[in-house]
Order: sequence, then C-alpha cells, then structure tokens
Amino acid sequence: MALNRSQSYLRSLIRPTASLPLQNCRKSSWWSKVEMGPPDAILGVTEAYKKDTNPKKINLGVGAYRDDNGKPYVLPCVKKAEEMIMSKNMDKEYAGIVGVPEFCQGAASLAFGENSPVIKEGLNATVQGISGTGSLTIGAYFLNHFFPGIKEVYMPTPTWGNHIPLFKRAGLTVKQYRYYDPKTCGFDFAGALQDLAKVPENSIVLLHACAHNPTGVDPKPEQWKEMSKVMKSRHLFPFFDMAYQGFATGDITRDAGALRMFIDDGHLVALSQSFAKNMGLYGERVGAFTMVCSSKEEAARVMSQIKIIIRPMYSNPPVHGARIASTILHDKDLRAHWLKDVKGMADRIIEMRTRLREGLAKEGSSRNWQHITDQIGMFCFTGMNSEQVDRIIKEFSVYLTKDGRISVAGVSSKNVDYLAHAMHQVTK
Ligand SMILES: Cc1ncc(COP(=O)(O)O)c(C=O)c1O
Repeated sequence: MALNRSQSYLRSLIRPTASLPLQNCRKSSWWSKVEMGPPDAILGVTEAYKKDTNPKKINLGVGAYRDDNGKPYVLPCVKKAEEMIMSKNMDKEYAGIVGVPEFCQGAASLAFGENSPVIKEGLNATVQGISGTGSLTIGAYFLNHFFPGIKEVYMPTPTWGNHIPLFKRAGLTVKQYRYYDPKTCGFDFAGALQDLAKVPENSIVLLHACAHNPTGVDPKPEQWKEMSKVMKSRHLFPFFDMAYQGFATGDITRDAGALRMFIDDGHLVALSQSFAKNMGLYGERVGAFTMVCSSKEEAARVMSQIKIIIRPMYSNPPVHGARIASTILHDKDLRAHWLKDVKGMADRIIEMRTRLREGLAKEGSSRNWQHITDQIGMFCFTGMNSEQVDRIIKEFSVYLTKDGRISVAGVSSKNVDYLAHAMHQVTK
C-alpha cells in the first residue's frame, strides 16, 4: 500500500530511533553517573521484616502507633471529623499559601495555650506545613535567608536522623551538643549545659519539645529551666521541634511545658509541629510552622517572607488533613474525644514499658532496665549494642534499628513477653 506524504514523513521520524539498540540509549543516558544511594535505615528494617517468615516476628523499627493487635490505628475522632467534613460538601479549591487559616490558628493555640501572650497579642506568624518535616524545612529556609546571627544549628547528640540532612540542605551548618549519656541511658544534663555554654553567641539551637527521638530521654522541668537560662544569657535562638505533643505524657499541656516555659522566660522561638502522631494523621501530612515575633507588625513582615519561601516550594499545602485537624481542634466535643484518644495511646505505650521491664525481671535479667520506664514517648533507647541488635534480629526475628532503638508503639500485650525473652537472651 502506497503511503501518503504525511505517513512517509512520520515513518522517517520513527525509524531511526526504533532501530537504535537499547544499549546505545542507555550509554547516552543523562543519569549514567548517578550513584546508588544507601537505603533509608528505617525503611530497610521494615523490608527485612516483611521478608521474614517467622510467625513470631516483631517490627519495632517504624515510628508509627499500633493498637494492641499490632494494627495501624485511625482515631475515632478523626473518623468523626471526616464525616462532618463530608457532610458539608466542601469544595476542593486551593488553600492560600499559608494553608487552612482556622487550622493555623488552632495549631498555634494548642502549642502556646489560648491565653498565651503569643496568641493574644498576635505575635505568631504561623503557616500550615507538610507535616513536621515540611514545617521544619520552611523554618530552616527562613533562617538561612534571614537569621541575623551565625547560621549554625546546634543539635542534640543523637537527634532524629532527618534533622541533619534537612538543615544542611537548607544551607545551614550543623553542629552538636551533648544530650544522651550511654552510661545511664538518660539525659547528660551536665554535658548539655557545658556545651550550650560554649555555643557561639547568636547561634541556633534545636530542641525536641518532648518525647525526644530517638532516645525517649527528656530533660526534667528544672533542667529545661537551666537550659533556658544559659541560652538566654548567651543569646541563643531556640528552634523547637514538637512532633509528639500529647504523645509523651498523654497531656497536651504538660508536653508543651518546655516551649511555654521558654516563652515565659522571654525567648522568641521558632516552632515546628506535626499532627502525624498525636492525631494519627501520618499520611495526611499535617503540620505547622510558627515564628514568634516581638510585635504584630514584625509578625506580618515575617509572614510575608515565609509566604515568598513557600510559593516556589510547593505553592500551597493540601487541605484535607488540615480540615480534619482543624475540625478536631475547634469542635468542643471532638476535641474532648481527641484528648481521651491521645491519652489512651500514651497510656498504652507507658503500660508496655512497664510490662517489658517486668518481663525482663521475670526472665531473670540482672541488668538495670530502669531507663525503659524512665524514658518517654514512642521510642526507647534500649542500650543494646549493634552485636546484640544483630543477634536479636537473626535469632528472634525482632527488628529494630542498629542503634538499639525500639518503637514501643510496636509492642503489644501479645508480643511483650516474647520481646522480654529475646532481649534477655541477647543481653545476659
Ligand atoms: C523529632 C521528629 N521531628 C519531626 C518528625 C516529622 O515527622 P512527620 O514529617 O511525619 O510529621 C518526626 C517523625 O518521626 C520526629 O520524630
């Protein structure tokens, strides 16, 4: 069949590429020099867990809450809030750059307290962020552009694994201060104070507001007070990461204690919030970033610049999760329900800590496991070394990160005795 002119033209375009060997295409790829990166440490643990066929296997790597049957948990108040949102038949228009305004207001009030001067005098520039990670990122970029002091962030040793690359990528220099004492599996208060006292004036200090990840070790109120004093006297800028409000003690006010104390002590702070854990909104990516300013007028200027940072980054945040969180925060009944749900989650974790410690004692362990119940929040730094971690994975199919951290949220009444047995066997 004879081809018409346009068919012949199309063929002439297609033929050369179709006959080019695939090998040649690969050689000429733009990405041939891209090296294979290391797998994410925590996702690697989950991958290995999935492949294991032992029916007794436990995954203690992932930092997500599980119910006592080991299943992901959707909070009843979240389900109810979703029903309320659906019944309103809301549209799917873009939120503004700052996100859902009622959510931002609710998040800031939750953190600082409704009666805080920050809220009452409008000193907060608060925007919705893509959960905790995105909110930290907005803060890090803002500091890199506008922080008038030294662009160095001092972080606790150890800190959440993502803090370091996140702040580095935003252009800041990352340094450390002592925090965890492996000898006591507790807080190295003296070390932290000594290091903070040496941090160059006008630098940034990252603080975990509560339920420190990965250690589960938090300063006591009087220790926070001392840290606040040293930081004030050295003119250090506090950046609070609050990813677990309510999740540590079960009480949202108590868990915000350090943040509120710093405000009372006269610090102007940055704050990142996540609603992943305390509302179980992990995949909905709900969070907030706040910069506390010295006046309403200053907050407006800061807000204008935060918006300029967000616009080319992701334009504006997703609305659904923020609507859920906002509904829970503003509806009196739902909020009361939520406070009970958070307490329930925190209490289950606290109970599992006690049961694990008791189980180790029953196994006949002579080691001091007091830190299991002293530590707080989702994570426990067990003190198991990397060889013991290798053994517990290989011999008992108990999966955790190399540093000996377990997610207590993955412990249940069904597996706690087995876990105690396994921990005793590899540590005796
Ligand atoms: C200390 C800390 N900050 C921030 C986050 C941010 O989490 P997300 O982005 O899921 O809210 C986490 C999550 O594990 C965390 O532990």
